Amino acid sequence: MNSIHVTPTADSKINDVDFNNLGFGTVFSDHMLVCDYKDGHWSAPEVIPYQAISLMPSSKIFHYGQSIFEGMKAYKDIENQTWLFRPEENFNRFNLSAKRLAIPELPKEVFIEGLKALLKVDEQWIPTQQGSSLYIRPIIFATGEGFHASPADAYKFIICTAPSGAYFAGKVKVLIEQKYSRSANGGVGYAKAGGNYAGQFYPTQLAIEKGYNQVIWTDDNTHEHIEEAGSMNIFVRINNTLITGPTSDRILDGITRKSILEIAEDEGINVEVRKFTVTEVVEASKNGSLKEMFGAGTAAVISPIAGYGFKGVDYELPELENPMALKLKKRITDIQTNKTEDPFGWTVRV
Ligand code: COI
Repeated sequence: MNSIHVTPTADSKINDVDFNNLGFGTVFSDHMLVCDYKDGHWSAPEVIPYQAISLMPSSKIFHYGQSIFEGMKAYKDIENQTWLFRPEENFNRFNLSAKRLAIPELPKEVFIEGLKALLKVDEQWIPTQQGSSLYIRPIIFATGEGFHASPADAYKFIICTAPSGAYFAGKVKVLIEQKYSRSANGGVGYAKAGGNYAGQFYPTQLAIEKGYNQVIWTDDNTHEHIEEAGSMNIFVRINNTLITGPTSDRILDGITRKSILEIAEDEGINVEVRKFTVTEVVEASKNGSLKEMFGAGTAAVISPIAGYGFKGVDYELPELENPMALKLKKRITDIQTNKTEDPFGWTVRV
């Protein structure tokens, strides 16, 4: 690929940002990568100032939700070097999602080289504060017009970024969902389709009205198998065994999830990847063997769950002195920020 054309902004907003008080995904860096698909091929990507885009109301994104995204992060180490974490995994999953949504697959170099070019231009936007990073959002959506319910003939690929702090503030209390479903066999649950997340908003609002922060998704058929935690994968620790469900049509193949599994094994933690049920978790709560429960995802990294509600009863998780969640979070974030050796070969220097 030829070098990527960059149009720098004449009006940087970086001095308006309080890097010591970052929310999650609320302020956006100066530039974005853009690349269009039309006439059967992806054009050359460009870096341009972050700006609004103009679309026709008949663009298929608005009618049929043909859109996908990824979530990634860039980190700075103490020597001011920039690092990405397993970017090829994001690229591969992006194209898996694209295929499921009948979106033309993106060439790898457009994604990887485009992202590197964008990060070079917006390097100053990568926060160095503890717990902060540059959250990266690659998206593709249908720009092609028409009311016919069929794939569009034109698409836009954009990467925009946001210097971000923690995704969740404080302890998370969750409700085990018994009515609504996030996904179904043969559906799009494994893809990062925008609509997967929109479909969660209403049941999550209902859970918030009842005093919870998030929903624990159970399988659509029996509501007995625990599958995901809000927009994250879910882990439970029963006694000293760490358990997470196997990925499937219904469960996202999370990059944080699979990294935690490898780190846990490397740490000598007993790990089981198997289906587990609400009954098993409630029983474990009652007999005191349920030690921890946490969500895992790029945005939140590891989000400990303080308690959960099920059929009108609230169960609390014990407050441990040395939780596994904290140990695993420290190891993964130390690898991501190049504070510790990366024996897995996951980090990529930009
Ligand atoms: C992420 O964890 O990065 C995700 O993509 C989930 C999103 C809803 C925050």
